[in-house]
Amino acid sequence: MCGIFGYIGTNQHASTFILEGLKSLEYRGYDSWGIALQKDDGTVHITKHPGKIGDAKAPNVLSSLGIGHTRWATHGGISTENAHPHTDCTGEVVLVHNGIVENFALLKKELSLKGHLFKSETDSEVIAHFVEEMSKTSDDLDEIMKQTKQTIDGMNAVIILFPKKQLFYIIKNGSPIVIGKASDGYYIASDATAILPHTKEVYFLEDGESAKLTRDSLIILDAYGKEKEPAFISLPYDAQLASKGNYDYFMLKEIAEQPTILRAISQNAHAEVSKAAKLIKDAFGTYLIGCGTASYAALAGTYLFSKIAKRHVNNSIGSEFTYLVDFLTNKSLIIPLSQSGETIDTISAVDHAREKGAHILAITNSIGSTLYRKANDNILLNAGPEKAVASTKAYTAKIAYLYLIAHEINGTYKNGISNLNLAIDAIVQLLHEQDAIRKIVDDIKNQKHIFILGRGLSYPAALESALKIKEVSYVHAEGFAAGELKHGVLALVEKGTPIILFNPHDETYEDTLSAAYEVRARGGYVIGLAHDNHEAYDEYIHIPDCQDATVLPNVVVAQLMGYYLAIAKGFDPDKPRNLAKSVVVK
Ligand code: M6R
Repeated sequence: MCGIFGYIGTNQHASTFILEGLKSLEYRGYDSWGIALQKDDGTVHITKHPGKIGDAKAPNVLSSLGIGHTRWATHGGISTENAHPHTDCTGEVVLVHNGIVENFALLKKELSLKGHLFKSETDSEVIAHFVEEMSKTSDDLDEIMKQTKQTIDGMNAVIILFPKKQLFYIIKNGSPIVIGKASDGYYIASDATAILPHTKEVYFLEDGESAKLTRDSLIILDAYGKEKEPAFISLPYDAQLASKGNYDYFMLKEIAEQPTILRAISQNAHAEVSKAAKLIKDAFGTYLIGCGTASYAALAGTYLFSKIAKRHVNNSIGSEFTYLVDFLTNKSLIIPLSQSGETIDTISAVDHAREKGAHILAITNSIGSTLYRKANDNILLNAGPEKAVASTKAYTAKIAYLYLIAHEINGTYKNGISNLNLAIDAIVQLLHEQDAIRKIVDDIKNQKHIFILGRGLSYPAALESALKIKEVSYVHAEGFAAGELKHGVLALVEKGTPIILFNPHDETYEDTLSAAYEVRARGGYVIGLAHDNHEAYDEYIHIPDCQDATVLPNVVVAQLMGYYLAIAKGFDPDKPRNLAKSVVVK
């Protein structure tokens, strides 16, 4: 959560770079934003605003050194005072922070007793005052930074600007931060895509590391304070992939990109798929873990491996896995699924598993991310930057990989590929026929509840679909195993309640149809997603038969429904209220 951006170099347009960087990072938090720019006379211009950046213009200040922040509130409400950057009492320490200073209350008390005056309710501001306090007795900034790093508890990334000295330091422990090296200086961001317009050469700071940057130098110190040579890597994608292009919103762009991404997986994934299949076959117990959408992909994996590979693969929500690790051994295989590779609940779960000696195969969409670096083996989804808070293309890419791995284990890889190709064609067709989905959305947009039902493989798809609808449209949507309907859910069905029914022609078909009749008998409005129409449906969306890969087009329908519901209700589907793209706090 929270996006931080910094620039130090020779170009006088830091103001524009930082504003554009923050816009790119805004998916990480959009409660408030702010920028600090060092002026030629050594003073600092700070601007802070509650709310989203929107069409705000860059501050009209020539500067070649500055930092910025877009906030997802943790400590303190949404206000100008709580927006970053924060300063010490003197204004000589200016910082932006991503993470939580877990011992901030104690530090704040101690610093207040020493006379420091706090202007915000944030945990972040204590860092500025702590640095100020240390500076009273020492002018060794390297040492002060070392002390600061050791003193603040929690998962944090901080850029601390010293305007008078024309330099800044970065401290990193937990929250991601990446340094880009360009011909006109250094760019720093929470996420590499924000740096892409300037350079592809990046270094991902490791936990415990810190950096000192001047206009023409970069010094990286390892966790023990020893200088180290940073190993820069070249990012494998272009800046335009991270832009909206002709689309109004990233969410629709990312939904539309799915056929291309899935086609690339269908054509190129075999080597990685067989590596993963071997790891699963050799492991004594495999766990798929993830949060939110990734947790539904993990659940889908359990169904896919059971049905296709005849193999039991466990799954767990990332935040719950900590309580399930007792029996892990060095023969266990953990497969964290994560678009960002930065979700703290998933990372913590992986840390626990690593302590037990388990092998980690990370399936992520972000090269250089924390999970990517912590894993023994990696599969990169190669879905390109996903900016909308609602995960779409990363979900279907994860499912495609899990689906192919299950087929590889079963010795039916070619069969998996042909079903995946059918699913891709079905998604292309759906994308061409969005009017039908828009019409249904128009019919149901004023309903308070939407239920999504499915059995077997369609059950995790129903859960994911409900998340997609609720998080962007704020309509209460719930996914259920269709068989659970009569065990309680039916009580919620009233006249007109929309029920989206995933009803592929597989072993679940007849039983799912019974659910349709049960709902209809109570006045529910059944929207059937199936290969053929049926009298039990009030509305019908044709989904071609893609065998076990039918879940892919089914979920795409829900993605589009969520998107159009958000638009119909006047909400920004890219930035749903209260949420952020990367959840890096517990
Ligand atoms: O980056 P990750 O895949 O680890 O993110 C996990 C969840 O935070 C994420 O899927 C979240 O649930 C999305 N908002 C769902 O659309």
